[in-house]
Amino acid sequence: MDFLEPHIHADICEGRTSGHLTSGIDSGFTELVSKRGKDAAKMAVDSHTFAINRVGEISKKLGIDCEYRQLPGYDISQYERGQEGHDEEVQEFKEEAQLMRELGMNAEYKEGFAVRGWDGKVDQRDAVVYTGQATFHPTKYILGVLKWLTEQPNFQCYTRTRVISVEEKGLLSKEVRVHTEGGQTVTCKDAVEATCIPLQKLSVVAELVYYRTYCLAIRVPKGSIEDCMLYDSMDPYHYVRFTACDDKDDYLIIGGNDHLVGQEDEQNERYKELEDWVRARFTQAGTVDYKWSGQILEPVDYTAFIGKNQGNSHIYICTGDFGNGLTHGVLAGRLIADEITGVSNPWSKTYNPKRIPPLSKIPDTISHDIEINTQYKRLLQADVKDIEDIQPGSGGILNPTAKKPMAVYKDEGGNVHKFSALCPHMKGVVCWNADEKSWDCPVHGSRFGKDGLQVMGPASGNMAPVDEAGENLQKGSVAA
Ligand SMILES: Cc1cc2nc3c(=O)[nH]c(=O)nc-3n(C[C@H](O)[C@H](O)[C@H](O)COP(=O)(O)OP(=O)(O)OC[C@H]3O[C@@H](n4cnc5c(N)ncnc54)[C@H](O)[C@@H]3O)c2cc1C
Ligand code: FES
Repeated sequence: MDFLEPHIHADICEGRTSGHLTSGIDSGFTELVSKRGKDAAKMAVDSHTFAINRVGEISKKLGIDCEYRQLPGYDISQYERGQEGHDEEVQEFKEEAQLMRELGMNAEYKEGFAVRGWDGKVDQRDAVVYTGQATFHPTKYILGVLKWLTEQPNFQCYTRTRVISVEEKGLLSKEVRVHTEGGQTVTCKDAVEATCIPLQKLSVVAELVYYRTYCLAIRVPKGSIEDCMLYDSMDPYHYVRFTACDDKDDYLIIGGNDHLVGQEDEQNERYKELEDWVRARFTQAGTVDYKWSGQILEPVDYTAFIGKNQGNSHIYICTGDFGNGLTHGVLAGRLIADEITGVSNPWSKTYNPKRIPPLSKIPDTISHDIEINTQYKRLLQADVKDIEDIQPGSGGILNPTAKKPMAVYKDEGGNVHKFSALCPHMKGVVCWNADEKSWDCPVHGSRFGKDGLQVMGPASGNMAPVDEAGENLQKGSVAA
């Protein structure tokens, strides 16, 4: 088995998660049943439950110290008791708890339930309580698994190796060719594009909605709040979980506040709202030590795409994770391995990427692209009027001619580097993400570093430099 990775280690989304492993998937089961039916919802519960337990089994077997522990999940109303909307939501919560039980989960609605340590004035008591969820430290876990893999005789890991295409010639082909940026080709029987989103133009890429989501780690005195996983019902929701900090404190991780990619530049407000949310509910909250954001991909029918890629027999994909990518990754390991080795797996139909006929969706894809570009007038709009307006360590879109918008990055020393702002995927116009110092494409979520190098697909190539300084910046980053 060959593992190809452009960075020194694999961590684009994985290293940014908040570490929950849950079978209470993001869309909720009432929504999922309405889109996919009860059988698919049952498969979702079974497969996510498998994944939660599997991480525990593997970390135990390989001796990976990754803070894995099983915990309850609590779903609470976004409204305070007595506030308009609370009672209506309680009724929906009762129905959701009933549905969760029918799907095999141990869930119940508990009136008056409150998390231990919630001592703020905001009263959001009453919750759906469900057991058998878990949390862990994903980076520690991945490094442990990677260490074990590198000790196996049939595993080769190639870092600093960017894949630019994965192709199979015809449906009867028995061979997959994986081409790298460095000009090498790996020929194999089966290939798995575990790139968060597959490196391709259409198909499932058009079936996803792209969101940016935010997280904070706030110190709280050790043991002062119940170790649990908490979610409210806002859209987008807030979630809370905990991880170890030092002898005195734990970290309360608060996340949420999602927005569509490229449609917001007030990131500080997003972080502040998360912090205020915590302080109003947990008065023991101390200093904020970390803030970060990342992208999540929501499938239009609330079910991930895991299995054989559309139009292929030996290329597999795993994408459309929304906030459940950790469990999806683990269950994909089982499902894809079964499909490659010809073992029947009951989850195949539910996650099948071929479940939506690709041709019928092409008009939707095109209108989606047009909609986003029109909405932002990105082809005509400039973020900055002059390079002088860009602060050192920052970037912006300059539009000298409507057809050739330019992405300009000014480094800390004030040197200017220019790239084409047209995304190499399908020519969307990228936006500067001041928080993460990256270029993000609002059309299908491709991301690029400040140097224009591809960070996340579906684009497989880099942003094209349009001056020598841009070219040198890219070359320097590749060589580093
Ligand atoms: C803030 C935040 C919090 C989250 N919290 C949770 C949570 O608590 N629980 C949960 O289940 N999910 C959570 N998620 C979602 C979850 O993190 C992701 O769905 C999951 O990590 C995706 O894993 P992945 O392996 O598919 O992708 P990634 O972790 O992004 O890995 C993709 C890999 O592919 C590599 N790659 C990309 N392009 C190429 C190329 N051209 N050639 C070769 N390799 C390439 C990348 O370098 C990377 O190593 C969260 C996401 C965010 C952003
Ligand atoms: S145009 Fe598709 S990701 Fe940019």
